[in-house]
Amino acid sequence: MLSPQSTETVKATAGVVAEHAEEITRRFYPHMFAAHPELMRVFNKANQAVGEQPKALAASVVAYAVNLIDPDAPDFRPIMQRIAHKHVSLGIKSYEYTIVGHHLMWAIGDVLGDAVTPEIAAAWDEVYWLFACQLIAEEGKLYALGGTDPEHPWRQYTVVDRTDETAESFSLVIKPVEGELPAHHTGQYVAVGVDLPGGERQPRQYTISGVPGREAFRLTIKRVHGADGVPDGQVSNWLADNAVVGTVLDISQPA
Ligand SMILES: Cc1cc2nc3c(=O)[nH]c(=O)nc-3n(C[C@H](O)[C@H](O)[C@H](O)COP(=O)(O)OP(=O)(O)OC[C@H]3O[C@@H](n4cnc5c(N)ncnc54)[C@H](O)[C@@H]3O)c2cc1C
Ligand code: HEM
Repeated sequence: MLSPQSTETVKATAGVVAEHAEEITRRFYPHMFAAHPELMRVFNKANQAVGEQPKALAASVVAYAVNLIDPDAPDFRPIMQRIAHKHVSLGIKSYEYTIVGHHLMWAIGDVLGDAVTPEIAAAWDEVYWLFACQLIAEEGKLYALGGTDPEHPWRQYTVVDRTDETAESFSLVIKPVEGELPAHHTGQYVAVGVDLPGGERQPRQYTISGVPGREAFRLTIKRVHGADGVPDGQVSNWLADNAVVGTVLDISQPA
C-alpha cells in the first residue's frame, strides 16, 4: 500500500506525469542503454526504433499509480500477469529492477525538472518499487513453477523437423536437447533468442502448439518484410534462412 503522504503527492501529480509519460520513456531508454549496453540484448530493437512498445513502461507505471490511489479502478492483476509473463519469457532478473528504477527516476527528473521536489521523487519511487516488488514476486513464482534459474533462462532445443508452409511461412518442430518438454498450456508462447550476424543478440516470442506424442513444440513463423526503406524483420528472417533440422536454438520457458 502507498503511504498516506505519497498517496496525496501521487494524486496531485499523476496527471502531469501521465502527460509526459511518452517523453519520459523516450529519455529513459537511451540513458539506460548508455550505462548498460548489455541490456540491448534483451530489448527488442525494432520496438525501440518504432517506439510503440517502449511507451508501455511509463504508461503502465502511471496506470499502476492510478490503481493505488483509486479504489474504483479496474482490476490491475491481468496487466501485472501479462507483464510478468513477458518478462519471464525474456529472462528478466530481479536486480535489473534497480537499474530500470534508477534510470526511470532520472528520466522523470530530467523531463519535469525543478517541478520534481524531493517529496514528489520519493512518492514516485515508492510507486515504482511497489510495482517492481509485485512483478519480482510474480516472476519469481513463474520461474519456480517452470523450473528455470533466471540466471540461465535459456534452454537448448534442437530443430527436429521443418515444413515450409508457404513461401513466407514455415513451421519448426523443436525438442529439448536434454530432458522432457516443460509443462505448457494452449495459447502460450516461448521466446527464441538468436545470435545475429555482427554479434547482436535478439529475442522474439512465438506461439507454441503441441505435436502428437507431446514430445516437441511446433512454432509457425512468418517472414516479416520491411517496406519503403524499413529493414526486414531480423529474427523471423534469420530463422527462415538458418533454422533447419539439427539447428540448436535458445528457447525460454513457456509463458
Ligand atoms: C506473444 C507473441 C506471440 C507471437 N507469436 C508469433 C507466431 O506464432 N508467429 C509469428 O510469425 N510471429 C509471432 N509473433 C511476432 C514475433 O514475436 C516477431 O515480432 C516477428 O517474428 C517479427 O520479428 P522480426 O525480428 O522478424 O522483426 P523485427 O526486426 O522485430 O521488426 C518488426 C517490424 O519493425 C520494423 N522495423 C525494424 N527496424 C525498424 C526501423 N529502424 N524503423 C522502422 N521500422 C523498423 C520492421 O520492418 C518490421 O516490420 C508473436 C509475438 C508475440 C508478442
Ligand atoms: C516496475 C518495473 C517495470 C514495469 C512496470 C515494466 C513494464 C513493462 C510493460 C508494460 C511491458 C510490455 C508488456 C507486453 O508486451 O505486454 C514490458 C516489457 C518489457 N520489459 Fe518491462 N517493466 C519493468 C521492469 C523491467 C525490467 C527490470 C526489465 C529488464 C531490464 C524489463 C524489460 C522488459 C523487456 C525487454 C520488455 C519487452 C519489450 C521490448 O523488448 O520491447 N522491464 N515491461
